[in-house]
Amino acid sequence: MVDHSSNRFSLCADCLIGFRYNGRFYEGGCVNAFTIRAPDDWHCHLRDGDVLSRTVADQSRYFIRSIVMPNLASPVLTIDDAQAYYQRIMMHVPSGRQWQPCMTLYLTESMDAKTIRMAKQSSYILAVKLYPAGATTRSEFGVSNLSRIEPILSVMEEVDLPLLVHGEVVDDACDIFDREAQFIDRYLQPLVEKFPRLRVVLEHITTQAAVQFVRSSSSNVAATITPHHLLLNRNDLLVGGLKPHHYCLPVLKRSRDQQALIEAAISGYPCFFLGTDSAPHAVDAKESACGCAGIYSAHAALEFYAEVFEQHDALGRLEKFASEYGARFYQLPLNEQRVTLVKASWTVPEQLTFGSDMLVPLFAGQSIGWSVRDIEPVNNKCDKKGKGSASEYDY
Ligand code: NCD
Ligand code: ZN
Repeated sequence: MVDHSSNRFSLCADCLIGFRYNGRFYEGGCVNAFTIRAPDDWHCHLRDGDVLSRTVADQSRYFIRSIVMPNLASPVLTIDDAQAYYQRIMMHVPSGRQWQPCMTLYLTESMDAKTIRMAKQSSYILAVKLYPAGATTRSEFGVSNLSRIEPILSVMEEVDLPLLVHGEVVDDACDIFDREAQFIDRYLQPLVEKFPRLRVVLEHITTQAAVQFVRSSSSNVAATITPHHLLLNRNDLLVGGLKPHHYCLPVLKRSRDQQALIEAAISGYPCFFLGTDSAPHAVDAKESACGCAGIYSAHAALEFYAEVFEQHDALGRLEKFASEYGARFYQLPLNEQRVTLVKASWTVPEQLTFGSDMLVPLFAGQSIGWSVRDIEPVNNKCDKKGKGSASEYDY
């Protein structure tokens, strides 16, 4: 007989096939509810201004921490920028939520060593983001010549401040589907060899090549995987008419790349963890002759991952991917809260309000099999040094 209290899974009475969890086979049916440690999102875009009421409300539903990308119209370049942005974000957290934003700085060729050292000392800045100039949305302030930031990378390595990488070349001659693999070969492999102690996250990986690179690197190198790169491939973008709401960067790749990402996510290797890259754009900016890159998934992020893990008979591995490996990489305490997902399908709205505009969320108008039923709160420890409480984020 299955002990539901210890494995935290409950079974569907109508289904008699059984399921596998933690290496054991449990008879009696498929899972219809399960409880895991509350997750963190290690890569999201919240934007700024009145749209924060949408993005922050969605992010804070059950994520306990989210790494917030710095690619605003006016990018987050300094400690003061990060602090001011943090405060604007916090004004939109619905009451009763325990969520905390973890801030990042936007790496430019003029970043100075003092800023890196101050970022390391601050309790709310967790990492620095590298955008190759021209690679993606609001990357124009990014880096054109990687050799110019080597002195800064050296300081980051010395103080142990992680580098988050948008891994695509911007070379016009390089096919857009090859840009990630080329970036790894030309720049990232040499970079991790030159700075072996630097902790590096290759963000939102999209290819078999990226999976192999991360697997064959040291434990200082990790990757985030988005729900959309697990659920979709380039056919979902291009077949039967162009689907602007499936356009993101790095662009969706082949089915075999999608399969490699799924295998990585469910593999149980700690170098792969959850990062949604939820990146909202107003509907008009997406449905345009020159549409913006970015997919919004924060309305149902954990539910999307649960769909993928369930489809691949791997629900028992979701907790480590969503709630453990990322925290361990960032040397943060694990969340003590728990979330319960239930098998209860619901339909994603066609559109969501986004400030004075609307946005089209991932799976708009489609049904999702899982719902998050509740989150059990506790007093969480959120400080990046692992010794404080959430209140230490307050200024
Ligand atoms: C992101 C955005 O819109 O800010 N877009 C995207 O397609 N992922 C930027 C990024 O992460 O590349
Ligand atoms: Zn992103």
